[in-house]
Amino acid sequence: MQWRRRHCCPIKMTWTVKRSLFRTHVAGLLSLALLFTIFLFFSHQDWLPGHSGPRENPLAYTIRGVRSPKGEANQSNSLRGLWRETGNVAPKPLLNLSSQQAEGAAGEAAGGGGGGGGARTGVMGLGDTMSTNNTLEKEMGVGGRLSAQPYRYILNEPFKCKDSTPFLILLIAAEPGQADARNAIRQTWGNESVAMGLGFVRLFLLGTGKSTDTFLQSSIEEESRVYHDIIQQDYQDTYYNLTIKTLMGMNWVATYCPHASYVMKTDSDMFVNTEYLIQKLLKPEMPPKQRYFTGYLMRGYAPNRNKDSKWYMPPEVYPSERYPIFCSGTGYVFSGDMAELIYQASLSIRRLHLEDVYVGICLAKLRIEPAPPPNEFLFNHWRVSYSSCKYSHLITSHQFHPNELIKYWNHLQSNKHNACINMTKEKSGRHRHRKFHGERPP
Ligand SMILES: *[C@@H]1O[C@H](CO)[C@@H](O)[C@H](O)[C@H]1NC(C)=O
Ligand SMILES: *[C@@H]1O[C@H](CO)[C@@H](O)[C@H](O)[C@H]1NC(C)=O
Ligand SMILES: *[C@@H]1O[C@H](CO)[C@@H](O)[C@H](O)[C@H]1NC(C)=O
Ligand SMILES: *[C@@H]1O[C@H](CO)[C@@H](O)[C@H](O)[C@H]1NC(C)=O
Ligand SMILES: *[C@@H]1O[C@H](CO)[C@@H](O)[C@H](O)[C@H]1NC(C)=O
Ligand SMILES: *[C@@H]1O[C@H](CO)[C@@H](O)[C@H](O)[C@H]1NC(C)=O
Repeated sequence: MQWRRRHCCPIKMTWTVKRSLFRTHVAGLLSLALLFTIFLFFSHQDWLPGHSGPRENPLAYTIRGVRSPKGEANQSNSLRGLWRETGNVAPKPLLNLSSQQAEGAAGEAAGGGGGGGGARTGVMGLGDTMSTNNTLEKEMGVGGRLSAQPYRYILNEPFKCKDSTPFLILLIAAEPGQADARNAIRQTWGNESVAMGLGFVRLFLLGTGKSTDTFLQSSIEEESRVYHDIIQQDYQDTYYNLTIKTLMGMNWVATYCPHASYVMKTDSDMFVNTEYLIQKLLKPEMPPKQRYFTGYLMRGYAPNRNKDSKWYMPPEVYPSERYPIFCSGTGYVFSGDMAELIYQASLSIRRLHLEDVYVGICLAKLRIEPAPPPNEFLFNHWRVSYSSCKYSHLITSHQFHPNELIKYWNHLQSNKHNACINMTKEKSGRHRHRKFHGERPP
């Protein structure tokens, strides 16, 4: 035994030690490799401080593009996929979980696994039990609930769908003073002639301007008498009240036009290729989709915690580390049935001033996941540099002055049938290039 202990076991020990040393080395090497990969990954992200914050790109959204690796992988996948004719599949319903699991999943959707506070306090930690800061509530108009009919209509168009059911309703958020933008839209992408005989309703969504400005209000009422395309309620038309405005539109559709096939919510400074939207994405010849929601997908975004930002989200109001997937408010499209669903869902979710995030939360509560559009270049939440070729193959582009809108629209119309004539040289590969998707204004 003594011998064994002295001569056998030390040798055995050495082997064990060697083996574990070897293991340690391998583990060390593996972790180095992992660290290096992580470094590579991070250095390719644009969200390192100072890389491209909102200052550089005024449209960098919500936060500085914090994106989960998942989202990135998916994006590069879809980058490779050009237009897929079969891409218009109905959105996949989320997993059917038991209610308790679902609660967790909802928290997960908001928290992105970050374990952000209040995952169990109802949807996205915005449930009843969340303590909200009254000062903030007042300042941003957040945190409160909507009653079913919170504001009174000053202007309404209750009979738009009395005689026929429209194929497409355009809900366009506009400020009271933007008569020029409304007129430009009426002449261009909001002109009913784009729908070529399919039912088409265009509505501008307005709140009220300064109560002292009675001239403005009477000119809006005159405009409404001429065009019958304005709905207005008596809430203050401010940036922080955009969610109220969107919900007004949803409620209008649910109340006066519940059988419309599709609805698009967009803004007054957008270029929208309505014809392409109708013919290529929505396809009037197909049976209308149900529980369908699409647009420029924002996946894995984190709340902006920079107080100076337009998109600042106080942690007191939204404690989670991630927003659920949502579609950029610059333009999203959904089937008519969604209006009622979203509006009903909103009645039990505390209000949040970022309307697109808020609608995303409503969708998460409904467990309806926005469908990715058939290709990445259709919905752009910044400005794509103009060429008739590009603009004949996209649906939205942002930041248009009314005059530009008219100019480019007319150019596009008169070159409709040879829109890509100047692009033949560049054609190959160009569409695959990311730049196509997001060029900034010159
Ligand atoms: C990509 O997104 C699809 C749905 O949009 C999802 O089913 C799939 O799991 C995602 N893939 C990755 C790698 O995240
Ligand atoms: C999901 O769950 C609901 C309620 O438990 C049930 O009615 C429904 O049939 C389920 N759907 C699927 C696809 O399992
Ligand atoms: C509420 O928010 C205001 C403004 O940001 C802040 O000054 C105040 O300390 C907050 N109060 C609480 C109780 O968090
Ligand atoms: C809409 O388009 C039609 C046909 O192109 C045109 O006649 C009409 O003037 C346009 N409407 C407006 C408001 O510009
Ligand atoms: C939103 O509108 C309501 C109703 O007019 C008003 O009381 C409130 O101050 C507005 N909120 C913001 C943040 O502008
Ligand atoms: C093609 O280029 C010419 C010259 O640059 C320009 O005048 C024309 O408008 C362009 N056509 C289209 C369809 O973009």
